[in-house]
Amino acid sequence: MTSTPNPTAAVLSQDDLKTLVGQAALKYVVPGEIVGVGTGSTVNKFIDALASMKDQITGAVSSSVASTERLQALGITVFDCNEVTELSVYIDGADEVDPNGYLIKGGGAALTREKIVAAESRRFVCIADESKLVQNLGKFPLPVEVIPMAVNRITRQFQAMGGTVVLRLKDGAPLVTDNGQHILDVTGLQISDPLAFESQVNQWPGVVTVGVFAFQKAQVCLVGTASGVKTLT
Ligand code: 5RP
Repeated sequence: MTSTPNPTAAVLSQDDLKTLVGQAALKYVVPGEIVGVGTGSTVNKFIDALASMKDQITGAVSSSVASTERLQALGITVFDCNEVTELSVYIDGADEVDPNGYLIKGGGAALTREKIVAAESRRFVCIADESKLVQNLGKFPLPVEVIPMAVNRITRQFQAMGGTVVLRLKDGAPLVTDNGQHILDVTGLQISDPLAFESQVNQWPGVVTVGVFAFQKAQVCLVGTASGVKTLT
């Protein structure tokens, strides 16, 4: 682990930590190439920082409508994922990060496109403040994107595993993702083997994407802490 000391550490807010890791991720962006960009408040800090080197990159592949709009507003060209064959790096946040780089993602409902862009990338650099670090995944409600007609069936399957399931709402109605699907948030699960868990849930008809990122784990994690940005590899 390497650490960059921060002399003003004592007064850093969570928002400040997100800004720090967003800026720190710039060094992983390869000039002349297209960068994969995730979604969320931490990634927004990265996108804002990326504007400072927009003339050095070809553009970005984005994981959500929200990130696309932010990138374009800053003058960064956004390419469709089908226009690229491989990205050198994908930068994204997470809801939980374990010591192996396994993640829970999807708090911003963008997990499906995030997993696709992560899979398209040689290296996943996760940016997170230290509140996201856990020993074992599963305290954060696990987002699962599902086909609407399978909501009840998949709810029952998680309940049979001991989970408590909530259909995510927005403005009082089921949230509709960028892909036209719904999100279930599941608590009370034991995710002791993230690879096996991801494989199992992926088999259930109607599951679009489960928010465990074990097969698409982070290779590098930049963690914002009170004493600066720490690099976990
Ligand atoms: C969106 C995500 C985000 O990366 C995750 O929810 C972290 O978000 P934030 O940086 O706002 O804490 O997976 O689907």
